[in-house]
Parts: sequence; C-alpha cells; structure tokens
Amino acid sequence: MSTARGEFSSRFGFLMAATGSAVGLGNIWGFPTNAASNGGAAFLFTYLILAFVLAYPALMAELIIGRHAKANAVTALSGLASTPGTARIGAGVGFAGMVTVTLILSFYAIVSGWMLAFMTASIADIARLETASNWLTQSGTVRDALFTLIFYVLTIYIVVAGVRNGIEKWSSRLMPSLYLILIALIIYVLTLDGAMDGLRMYLVPDFSRVADPELILSAMGQAFFSLSLGVGTMLIYGSYVSKKENLPAIGGMVTLMDISVAVLAGLLILPAMTVAQLNGIEIYDAQGGLIAGPALIISVLPALFDQMGDAGILVAVAFFTLMSIASLTSSISMLEVPVSYFVEDRGVSRRKAGVLLGAATATVSLIIVWNFGLLFDWVVRLTTEFSQPLLGFFFAVFAGWVWNRNALLAEIKQGHAEAESGLFWRIWPWYIKFVCPLIILAVYIQMIF
Ligand code: PHE
Repeated sequence: MSTARGEFSSRFGFLMAATGSAVGLGNIWGFPTNAASNGGAAFLFTYLILAFVLAYPALMAELIIGRHAKANAVTALSGLASTPGTARIGAGVGFAGMVTVTLILSFYAIVSGWMLAFMTASIADIARLETASNWLTQSGTVRDALFTLIFYVLTIYIVVAGVRNGIEKWSSRLMPSLYLILIALIIYVLTLDGAMDGLRMYLVPDFSRVADPELILSAMGQAFFSLSLGVGTMLIYGSYVSKKENLPAIGGMVTLMDISVAVLAGLLILPAMTVAQLNGIEIYDAQGGLIAGPALIISVLPALFDQMGDAGILVAVAFFTLMSIASLTSSISMLEVPVSYFVEDRGVSRRKAGVLLGAATATVSLIIVWNFGLLFDWVVRLTTEFSQPLLGFFFAVFAGWVWNRNALLAEIKQGHAEAESGLFWRIWPWYIKFVCPLIILAVYIQMIF
C-alpha cells in the first residue's frame, strides 16, 4: 500500500501546494474585512501574535504527524496512541476533521462559484455581452447552483489526477500567478484617489480593542482557518513530504507566505473600499459597521469596478481570477482529506472516491444554496469558529501528550539531523504541550462568558 502513496516531487511543489491550500478566501477576503471590523491594526497585531505562537506550532504538529505516519488523519492519530481507548479518540478526531472539512468545502464552493460567475461576467463585459454579464452578476439560486457545480468539476478533476499530476502540478502553475495578480492590483489601487483612507483604517491601530474577546476569537478562528488547520489537510499534505525535507523550515515558509498574502490583501481590499466610498458607493451597513460579508465582494467591489470604465473591466477580470485561483488551490486540499482516507483505508480507486465524495459534497452545497439564509452563516460559524479550533486542540494534545517524545524527535531529525540542539526543539514541544491547548481553552472559556 505504501508504495502506491503519492509524494510531492520537490520542495517547491510542496510549498506551492501547501501555500495554495493555506492562501484562499480566508486571506484575501476574511482577513482584511475582519481587520477592518475589529480595530484595524489592532487585529493585525493580535493576528500576527496568534499566527506565530499558536498557528505555526499547530501546523508543525500536523506536518510532523503526517509525515511520520505517511497516512491520513484517522490512521495517523490512532497510530500514535499506546492504548486502545486513546486510539479510538484519535480515530474519532480524524473523522471529525473529515466531516468538518467536508462541510467547509460545502460552503466554500458556493462562494467560489460566485467568484467564477463574476470572472465569467467580466470576460462577457470584454466581449460586450451585456445580457449575459447582467445575468451572471445577479444573485439567483440557478446561477449559484450552476457555478458551484462548475467549481466542483474543476476541484474533482484536479484531485482525481493525483498528488503529483493534479494537486502539485496545478498549485505550481496557479500560485505564482496569484502573487503576480495580487501585487499588480495593489499597485494599481493605491494610485487611486481615496486609497490612503483605507490604508489608514487598516494600519492605524485602535489598541482599546486588543483585549476584546470578540477580536481574539475572530483572530484565532482566522488563524486556524487561514492555515487550514485542525481538519487533517496539512496532515495529509505533510504525509506527502519526503523524509529528506527539513520540516520546521518548510512549515515556517508556509506560515510566512500565508501571513504575507493576508497582510498584502489588506493593502488591496481596504483601500479599494475607501476608493469606492469616495465614488459614492455605500461601504457601511445600516448598523454603521463596514460591509464585510458576501456583499463586499459581490456588490461593493463590482460597483467600484463598474465605475472605472474600461480599466475597471480589466481590474475585475484580474481580481476575480485571483479569487478563483485562491479558492481552487484550497478546495482541492479540502477534497483530498476524505479522498485520501477512502483510497488508503477503504481500497476505493482515486477516481471513484473523488467523483463520489465530490458529488456528495456538492449535494450538501446545493441544499445550502436553496436554504441560504437559514444555513450558510450557521455552517460557516459551526465549522470555522467551533470545530476547527476544538480539533486543533486535540491535534496539539496528540502531538504533545499522547505521542512518544523520542519518536517525535526522531521524525523531526529526518531531514534536519541537528534538530535536537536547534531552537525549534527547545521551544516547540512546550508550545504544543502547554501554550497551544491553553490558549485555545482560554479563548473558548471567554467565548462562553
Ligand atoms: N486556508 C483556506 C483559506 O484561507 C481555507 C481552508 C480551510 C483550506 C480548511 C483547507 C482546509 O481560504
């Protein structure tokens, strides 16, 4: 069985795939709007701290466990245990991660479908196909269902092609383009009138907010979501990494790239919003809060692009292509979690697992599309604010308490022979044992009050 497992062909391939998973709607959309509604740079500040003390150690736990076990989360976690009871808990956590990531995909694909619809609309604008463009930008269940399904077809196509020929190949093609488009858009938007107000909103901290429990909870949820943690995604990507790689270093690179895209996206979205405001577009909702939900991407920004004339059409193509790429490189990593389990543990072929699991998740998405007001927010909150940090807690406990310390060190030493005397080994075991579980618990307790 182990000889049939996929493996990334190079460090670059892993970095593109893992960064592709991490960088997604969470960075380009979630992060800037969370920052804007939570005290600007005060959020940025809290987020950066959490990213280093909480998310990076948690990411490392998943990568190390994954590479050690060379298996999916269910098998990997239960394999770390020394008693049958703990093994059952491990398998349970792995399963819960699989269910959570499937639910995340079910809402993520809907939003990604909007991105595809708007991308297609801006291409229709270039061709002066006005009726088509109007239909594509008007929300409606038929449009949403159609583009959600198109998005699933792309996701399934890549996952079925396998680790190297699908996930790695497409991430390596798409991620560099994402960086280029993002930087070009930032440079353009910052030259527009009104952009500096957005920059100020983003970068000037309102420190009175730093201790706000709501802010800390949002920042923690954001950090977990953004690094794709707690659901077995990074564990499975870790399991495809060669034993020759220095894990602490490549995990650090993934964290830095993920943070940098989030911080950069703030330089794009918030200035774009204040540019829109200067152009008479409403950017605050009835309660006086910044429009941050779906309306931001599918109404505020498109209204801005509309006003920019022909240049706006090109900016819209670039922007929605950026969003679509970010979504797709993340969605493939979500579908890979259950697919890898069914392929490895249930002996199902990759093609069959990809198609059937993709179709089942698509069905859940369609149910959400048709009951949007009732289900969408609820599924988002349940998975990202509740399940993900809770599962992250269990991953930390398994790495810090359940797994044998010598076996753990032996795994890190592969590809990093001098690990034992290095900084990582001096700090990380403490973080994963005490700091990570305690921070997560503290935030939960605060949430209950
Ligand atoms: N990290 C992705 C984003 O920021 C979302 C994601 C969550 C991907 C969980 C995989 C697993 O958009």
